[in-house]
Amino acid sequence: MEDKPIVTSNSVNQPTASPEAEEAVLEIWGQQPLSGHVSISGAKNSALVVLAGTVLSSQPCRLRNIPNLMDIDRMAQVLSALGIKVSRNGSTLDVDPSDISHTRAPYDLVSRLRASFFIIGPLLARMGVARIPCRVVVRSGAPVELHVRGLQAMGADVHIDHGTVHASVPGPRGRLQGAKIHLDYPSVGATETLMMAATLADGETILENAAQEPEVADLANFCRALGARIRGVGTKTMTIAGVPSLHGTDYGIIPDRIEAGTFLAAGVITRSEISLSPIIPEHLSAVVAKLQEMGSQVIAESPNRLRLVPGHDIQATDIQTLPHPGFPTDMQAQFMALLTLANGSSMITETVFENRLRHVAELNRMGANVRLNGNCALVQGVPMLSGAPVQGTDLRAAAALVVAGLGAHGKTTLQGLQHLDRGYERLEHKLIQLGAQIRRTTVNSQDLPDRPDVLESAAAPATPSFLPQG
Ligand code: EPU
Repeated sequence: MEDKPIVTSNSVNQPTASPEAEEAVLEIWGQQPLSGHVSISGAKNSALVVLAGTVLSSQPCRLRNIPNLMDIDRMAQVLSALGIKVSRNGSTLDVDPSDISHTRAPYDLVSRLRASFFIIGPLLARMGVARIPCRVVVRSGAPVELHVRGLQAMGADVHIDHGTVHASVPGPRGRLQGAKIHLDYPSVGATETLMMAATLADGETILENAAQEPEVADLANFCRALGARIRGVGTKTMTIAGVPSLHGTDYGIIPDRIEAGTFLAAGVITRSEISLSPIIPEHLSAVVAKLQEMGSQVIAESPNRLRLVPGHDIQATDIQTLPHPGFPTDMQAQFMALLTLANGSSMITETVFENRLRHVAELNRMGANVRLNGNCALVQGVPMLSGAPVQGTDLRAAAALVVAGLGAHGKTTLQGLQHLDRGYERLEHKLIQLGAQIRRTTVNSQDLPDRPDVLESAAAPATPSFLPQG
């Protein structure tokens, strides 16, 4: 197959083009048993940051197992705007970052992808200067002061001017300096930004209280494949010895643990035995442990394949989201969908992000009994959910509503597919292959219930009390 420039391809997983009055929706007829096997795509959040990481390399890179998603297209477009050549052939992306002609990320692209802020670290390390429009910081409600403070500790001058974050390294060589940095909170993005920046810095950087998420380790392994010297990968303390330059590589990213977890939830809610591969079992430990508490069995059929044997009933349990290896915030909504049908009541506490419980109102529209109190949701199990028109308010909320729709009686019509399409590759096709009755169609938006506008950002952040507000 011929390589295609990714900047012009915007074809996959997109809602059907429709006149203004039409809106793409998923129609899900619930209570259909699933069976068979599902293939798990490459991890969205690894792919995004590894793409950003190619900026570090002075030679071409080949990235394999890259899911075909809107967010990935957007990150590729950000790279293209810097003068980097990106082309896709199936799940392989060829990236040639040999020549970088621009150091300013374009406003319109960055404003649609919060993760594009993560190019600040590699761009600064490689070019000595980076300019990122800060709507990504302000409008998305995502504080990035941990990224900024860490870069400042490495000698960068960072300020906001005319709506843009300007970062530069003073001095003729434009090289960051290694530093000892203690993160107040193990932020995934800040760990990634600072690790990438440190790979090309002068001297050694020690990152304490680093995030231990598998996607952070995947990025570290990618950087090592480029020639970076990183120790302590996957632990709380990472040591990075800067090198003068990094070379090209051929790298395959890890499977998406959140996609895998979402399919496990789909199996549980439909009481279906399904298998999944490829997966890395230890990336799913917290999710599998909860499923077992809830009465399902998850069996390792081979080192990279799991089989779900669902329980007859779903047992209530409490969940608190935490940084890895705790229970992932990106699985909270899908597990809430399951617990709406549990025997008894469950408490779900979201500690990573604030305002990431907007699916509660939608689940209640389907007959769930969930009460909110701040960042806690008390889920009283009900005997059944009923299909309803619902709206996905962010990526994982939309995934949870798909799960709920699969378990509900009757038809669920899901709006807000732009969120789902950001992060799940061919979701409805994979579900149809398992036996789900689900289709993407367009409806006249006047026929849908009135809803307030929904923000693109995944969720507003919880500002931990030790961080500056506002
Ligand atoms: N935070 C700060 N200051 C900072 C950085 C983070 O206060 O400088 C706060 C955040 O606002 C949030 C918490 O710390 O309340 C955790 O944020 P973190 O930086 O760890 O998350 P992230 O890097 O922005 C990534 C994933 C998210 C995932 C989180 C947590 C990417 C592109 N995104 O976000 O994925 O939920 O880590 O695991 O990697 C998703 O896939 O749906 C998604 C939102």
